[in-house]
Amino acid sequence: MPLKCKEHGGHRPPLQPIFSHLLKDWGENSVGWYYQIIPSNARDNRERSSPVMRRKKITIVGSGNVGATAAQRILDKGLADVVLIDIVEGVPQGKGLDLLQAGPVEGYDFHVLGTNDYKDTAGSDIVVITAGLPRKPGMSRDDLLLKNYEIVKSVTEQIAKYSPDSILIVVSNPLDAMAQTAYKVSGFSKKRVIGMAGVLDSARFRTFIARELKVSVENIHAFVLGGHGDTMVPLPRYSTVAGIPITELLTKEKIDALVKRTANGGAEIVSLLKTGSAYYAPSAASVEMVEAILEDKQKIMPCAAYLEGEYGIHGLYVGVPAKLGKNGVEEIIQINLTPEEDAALKRSAAAVKELVDIIKV
Ligand code: NAI
Repeated sequence: MPLKCKEHGGHRPPLQPIFSHLLKDWGENSVGWYYQIIPSNARDNRERSSPVMRRKKITIVGSGNVGATAAQRILDKGLADVVLIDIVEGVPQGKGLDLLQAGPVEGYDFHVLGTNDYKDTAGSDIVVITAGLPRKPGMSRDDLLLKNYEIVKSVTEQIAKYSPDSILIVVSNPLDAMAQTAYKVSGFSKKRVIGMAGVLDSARFRTFIARELKVSVENIHAFVLGGHGDTMVPLPRYSTVAGIPITELLTKEKIDALVKRTANGGAEIVSLLKTGSAYYAPSAASVEMVEAILEDKQKIMPCAAYLEGEYGIHGLYVGVPAKLGKNGVEEIIQINLTPEEDAALKRSAAAVKELVDIIKV
């Protein structure tokens, strides 16, 4: 086969028509090229193109801590080709190349592209938005509101232009208000704009429960609902160890302490790191959502979803159990809440509404 590598100064050989969409998608600046061996006895274009299945393409906006780690997880799990985009020149390109070079060792064959040009993100199936400022010690997520609103707004405009059929997973903080920004700015259906927070908050709660009871994290399910902030609502009644509610296994005082540590989970890490915030667990949580959508798992997980009457909340992104599949949010699951739990969820929604009112989305 007359294939030459761009990196070694070769010229790209003439491509079969089946490549044209890939070139259009990836642009000339991509780190590598796609080739496919065409059997010499292929009889027509249909037969030639049949072995080509379009791989899924995921764009990660923001190639900082959460974004780059999410990219790494997506590649390690063998989920899709990845485009990393950032406003800073060189960083996405450098991290993209680095991730590409991990492929031979880790055994993935995916395409990775780092770029500052939204044209390269065109036709993405899923876009994970991690662009924006993280917290510093002493800051609340809400302190990021105005700066991150401008960033998420501009990013979403570009994504909606180049990937109008994509599903957006928003990670930037303050999470619920940023998800609402992406929803309103994109004009996408509410199913296709989802915020990541509950999976992370629940993972933190699960970790603390597992450590307290000295059991495997695999035995533990937990639900944390509400906005991703100080008012989040961990639900002990729906948090179980091998099916047993933790309310039967732990005292109220102990549960209250675990709930408090969960709600404070992000700040605990910020105060230890001093610069920046958590990213290993946040990237893992984001990629769990990506995987559920890509693989059409119909998996129920707590996500920030746009509510129009569910839980008595109207026109607002708030964390609730949602079923994720190939269309994004396939269904919002309504669970029975006690009056206290319901009041806590409404308080949390009111806190989200305050932020949303400031940015008027
Ligand atoms: P980081 O500072 O490491 O990375 C952010 C990246 O965004 C930087 O590379 C920056 O250059 C880029 N960026 C800034 N403006 C941009 C623009 N207009 N277009 C494209 N890229 C732009 O921050 P980190 O730790 O990755 O966190 C990212 C965001 O995610 C923060 O807002 C943080 O608070 C949030 N976060 C949310 C979590 C959640 O549970 N929802 C958990 C952890 C972080």
